[in-house]
Amino acid sequence: MSAQDKPQYSEPVYTTAVDRARYPFYIPNIEKKLVPETRELLEKYSHIPLEQQSEHVHKIRDQAWQIRAYPCTGVGAWLVPQLCKLPIYPEILRRVNAGETFVDIGCFVGHDLRRLAYDGAPSNNLYGVDIVSHWDVGYEMFRDHDRFRATFIEADILSDAPALMLLKGKIDILSVTQVLHQWDWDAQVKVAKVLTTFTKPGSLIVGNQIGNPNAQEVTLKSVSVPMWRHNPASFEKFWAQVGNETGTKWEVQCWMRSFQEMSWDSKDGAWMEEGVGIIEFVVKQV
Ligand SMILES: C[S@@+](CC[C@H](N)C(=O)[O-])C[C@H]1O[C@@H](n2cnc3c(N)ncnc32)[C@H](O)[C@@H]1O
Repeated sequence: MSAQDKPQYSEPVYTTAVDRARYPFYIPNIEKKLVPETRELLEKYSHIPLEQQSEHVHKIRDQAWQIRAYPCTGVGAWLVPQLCKLPIYPEILRRVNAGETFVDIGCFVGHDLRRLAYDGAPSNNLYGVDIVSHWDVGYEMFRDHDRFRATFIEADILSDAPALMLLKGKIDILSVTQVLHQWDWDAQVKVAKVLTTFTKPGSLIVGNQIGNPNAQEVTLKSVSVPMWRHNPASFEKFWAQVGNETGTKWEVQCWMRSFQEMSWDSKDGAWMEEGVGIIEFVVKQV
């Protein structure tokens, strides 16, 4: 394939470099991220004994790192439950149990989808979308090849992949966690406008991303791409713009959390700008 014929993906170039030593966000020992909820999931859902879990997740993290060098892969952030900590999680679970569809955009190994399945959601109502497949790594992580029936779509969310087209206007709950922050304001608007094409009145868009109480664009040395950091005020303005430009209306709830409140390590953000935190959100189409 010539360089010209190569598909153009929307992910930043730094993510394809896998040289651990060059990145401040490859933390060799991520055992602290094996929090009690994750230990329980691995023990009761995946049947991995407690004493084997540390070795298991380190092996899985390195398989994932060989695919993409994401900061959350390196620090093991995906080991700490996020979706199920949202105050709206009981409603999400109830709605998926009642037959509604749930899509995880940027699903990585499918850890949030496994949490839903463990909590009783029928896995055939679940979809995972990712620009690059970590799906087999997910089966290896959770040892559920024989029973996990979620659909995986390997596609850039900005593309017109046929499997994505089938979901347009049909999704009840869409999760986008630790994804939008990789882009600047305009690119985030572009992606959010695409997200709205999957939803309908009553749909939820939930998740979190890196934010900062001081909303700003940052370009960090180790990733060299401009990224917009939201605070709650800028996030509300952002969704007002997305709504205006798509003719849709959104009710926004969002709030900041520290790394410690997410049960991450404050050191996990040390390679980023001062004041960095997490913005969590629940956005509802009205
Ligand atoms: C930082 S990881 C977050 C994974 C997971 N959502 C979590 O919170 O732990 C970002 C994920 O988004 C995926 N991703 C990035 N750009 C994407 C795009 N344009 N379309 C679909 N997935 C994308 C990446 O491959 C990766 O799995």
